[in-house]
Amino acid sequence: MVDPFALNDLLAKHGQEHLLAELATLGAEQRERYLAQLASIDWAELSHAAAPLPAGEVGASRVITRSERQARAATLRAAGEAAYGAGRAAVLMVAGGQGTRLGSSAPKGCFPIAPHSGKSIFQLQAEKVLSLSRRFGRQVPFLIMTSPMTDADTREFFQANGWFGLDQAQLRFFSQGTVPSIDQQGRALLRVPGMLLENPDGHGGCFTALVTSGNLARLHADGIEQIIYIQVDNILAPVDDPELLGLASLEGAEVITKVLPKAHPDEKVGHLVRVAGSDRIVEYTELTPAQTRLTSANGEPLYRWGSPAMHSWGVAFLARLAARGYQIPLHRSAKPLKAWLGGAAQDITGWKSERFIFDLIPEARTSLGLEIDRDSEFAPVKNPSLSDGKPMNDSPATAVALASRLYASWLAAAGVTIALPAEARIEISPLYAATREQFLARWDRRLERLDGDYYLEA
Ligand code: UD1
Repeated sequence: MVDPFALNDLLAKHGQEHLLAELATLGAEQRERYLAQLASIDWAELSHAAAPLPAGEVGASRVITRSERQARAATLRAAGEAAYGAGRAAVLMVAGGQGTRLGSSAPKGCFPIAPHSGKSIFQLQAEKVLSLSRRFGRQVPFLIMTSPMTDADTREFFQANGWFGLDQAQLRFFSQGTVPSIDQQGRALLRVPGMLLENPDGHGGCFTALVTSGNLARLHADGIEQIIYIQVDNILAPVDDPELLGLASLEGAEVITKVLPKAHPDEKVGHLVRVAGSDRIVEYTELTPAQTRLTSANGEPLYRWGSPAMHSWGVAFLARLAARGYQIPLHRSAKPLKAWLGGAAQDITGWKSERFIFDLIPEARTSLGLEIDRDSEFAPVKNPSLSDGKPMNDSPATAVALASRLYASWLAAAGVTIALPAEARIEISPLYAATREQFLARWDRRLERLDGDYYLEA
C-alpha cells in the first residue's frame, strides 16, 4: 500500500501536488490504483528535459559511402552471410505508434498497403523475416515493440493471420512504457479524475523495454550479436542485409546508422553528425533553416546525411549500457492533448515526453554511417494519401509508388522492357524475392515486356 503522506512529499518536491487534490472523491479501489500509479513514476526524470545539444564543433561522421561500399561489397556480403548463417542476427521492429495520422486508431501495421494483394504493413514486414529465415534455414528472432495502446490489437492481428507463416517461437512481442503528458508549466495532466493522461515513451522506450522484458538477456544468451532495427512505417526497410551485418562484424561497430544524402536542405529528417567527439543524430526540429545550410571547411554541407531511422545495434553494447543502469533521456514536444481540467475534458496544447532510440549513438565506442540507395530502402508511411484533397508526401500512395518503381527496376535489370503508365502498380511478394539479388536469381523470364499492373507471389 502506498503511504499518501510520503507520496505527497514526493509530488510536492516535483511541483505535482495538484494530482492529489481530488483524492477524496475517488472510490477506495480506484484511489489505490491511482496512488500506486503516481508512486511508480520517476518524477525527477520527468522534470528534467533532455540536455540541449552539447556545445562543440559539428563535424562529419565516418560514413561508408556507396562507392566505398561497392568496392568492399564481396567481403562485406560474405561476412554478413556468415553472421546470418551462424544465427547471430535478430530483427527488431518498433510498432508502438497508432495509425492516427492515417485516420485509424488501430496499430499502424494493420493498414492494408499492398496494391494487389491488399497485404497489411505487418504482413509485408513479417514476410521479409520469413523469407530471411527460409534462406538461412534458421528462425531469425523477430522482436516487435508495441505500446500499451497497440499491444493487444497487434498480437490479435498476428494470431488471426496465422502469424503470417512465422513460427510463434521466433516472434517476441514486448510493450514499451508510458510517460505522463504535462502542461506547459510541467504539471502532469489527468485523463479523468483518478487517472493520469499518458503517452507512449517514444521508440527509445525499446531500450528499457528490451531490458525489463528479459528480451535483451535472452538475445545475449542465444549468441545474437547484432539487432537489425527498423520502424514499422518504412515498407521497404530491408531485414536481409548482409552488407550491413558484415560491416558491423568486420568493423566491430557497436552501432551503424544508415544514411542518405538529403533530398533538399529542409527535408524533415534527423542528421548524422559528429559533435564533441561522438556521433549523434541532430533532429530537424533542433536546427534553424540557416543552420541546415552550413558547410564545412571543404565546402560539404554539414547536415548532409539524413537518417531514415534504420540501424544495427550491437547486443553486447546494449547489455553494457543496461548493466550501468543507462536510461535514454526524455525530450519534450508540444502536442494537442485532451486533458481533464476544471471538471471537464478540454482540448489543450501540452507537452509529450519521448525517448529517441538514436540517443544511444553517442554512447557507442564505435559508430559508423552507411550510405544507402534511397529508392531501394526508404518508403515511409506517415500521412494520409490526401489531406484536404491535396496529395501528401510519405503516404500510402507515395510508398506504393516507390515500391512499384523499385520492382520495375528489378524487372528492367532482368531484361524486361518496361513501358508502364504512371498509374501502374507492381507488387512483388517478399516471399518471391525480398531483395534485388534474390529476384535476379529467381526470375524465370516469364515476361518480355511489361505495360501495366503486375503482381508476383511465391
Ligand atoms: C523519425 C525520426 C527522424 C527520421 C524519420 C525517418 C524521430 C524523433 N525522428 O521521424 O530522425 O529521419 O523518422 O522516417 O524519431 N514509435 C513507437 N513508439 C513511440 C513513438 C514512435 O514505436 O512511442 C514508432 C512508430 O510506430 C514509427 C516510428 O517509431 O514506426 C517513427 O515514429 P514517428 O513519430 O513517425 O517519427 P518521425 O517524426 O516521422
